[in-house]
Amino acid sequence: MSGNNNRVAIVTGASRGIGAAIAERLASDGFTVVINYSGDAAPAEALARTIEDKGGRALTAKADVSDPEAVRRMFDAAESAFGGVDVLVNNAGIMMLSPLADSSDALFDRQIAINLKGAFNTLREAARRLRDGGRIVSLSTSVVGLKLEHYGVYAATKAAVETLTAILSKELRGRTITVNAVAPGPTATDLFLNGKSDDLIARLSAMNPLERLGTPDDIASAVAFLAGPDGSWINGQVLCANGGMI
Ligand SMILES: NC(=O)c1ccc[n+]([C@@H]2O[C@H](COP(=O)([O-])OP(=O)(O)OC[C@H]3O[C@@H](n4cnc5c(N)ncnc54)[C@H](OP(=O)(O)O)[C@@H]3O)[C@@H](O)[C@H]2O)c1
Repeated sequence: MSGNNNRVAIVTGASRGIGAAIAERLASDGFTVVINYSGDAAPAEALARTIEDKGGRALTAKADVSDPEAVRRMFDAAESAFGGVDVLVNNAGIMMLSPLADSSDALFDRQIAINLKGAFNTLREAARRLRDGGRIVSLSTSVVGLKLEHYGVYAATKAAVETLTAILSKELRGRTITVNAVAPGPTATDLFLNGKSDDLIARLSAMNPLERLGTPDDIASAVAFLAGPDGSWINGQVLCANGGMI
């Protein structure tokens, strides 16, 4: 997509799962991509090589999004490598499921730190530094609407991300920067599959009328729409990408 050439996108949590599919898709749409991760460098480096082998441009950036200094350094690195940042895809996240009565302080604190404080850290940096005409897309979850048992703290962090999304879209008036969220349903990644029985996965897969799990590429398509030229009139919205699990 020629409209995206020379545009730079930071994708947080892009070494695996949905974030990796988003980074690959944005690179094939012409964006230069910054592949963020916080743990193992190997999958991030492998993704960067795949993108470069196809003629794209990519940089890996280790940064724990819950650490504001690390997030600042990631934006610094992107700016010094590529001259500026146009798109933030705020995707890094974790999910820890438990009934509220059994939820530990650690479960609460960790999800708040990565999902909410991490979103805050990256949104604040993007609000200060994105070039005019930019795009911000944050990953929420369809569970905010469905309100399934055991998802309480996780869904609460994502509901907060949706609120930040709407308010930031107004605060960026005059900069031509859109701010939206994509809310996936169950999607075949480690985050969703780990720890679930085959039965539970089958039940959750059948909740939407298309009767399958989402794929990381399904979600990347929705993000690419919002990040690219066709999404320019969508602002302050939450796009549910869930096959109709409403
Ligand atoms: N899969 C689903 O069914 C589903 C549904 C709704 C919403 N979502 C949302 O979609 C997003 C992506 O989920 P996913 O399923 O792709 O998860 P995933 O497969 O577990 O991948 C998570 C990615 O985030 C990175 N990450 C984790 N903690 C981080 C931190 N503190 N700082 C920077 N990066 C970090 C991981 O890399 P490292 O381990 O190296 O840090 C990895 O690249 C999340 O926000 C999730 O809540 C997922």
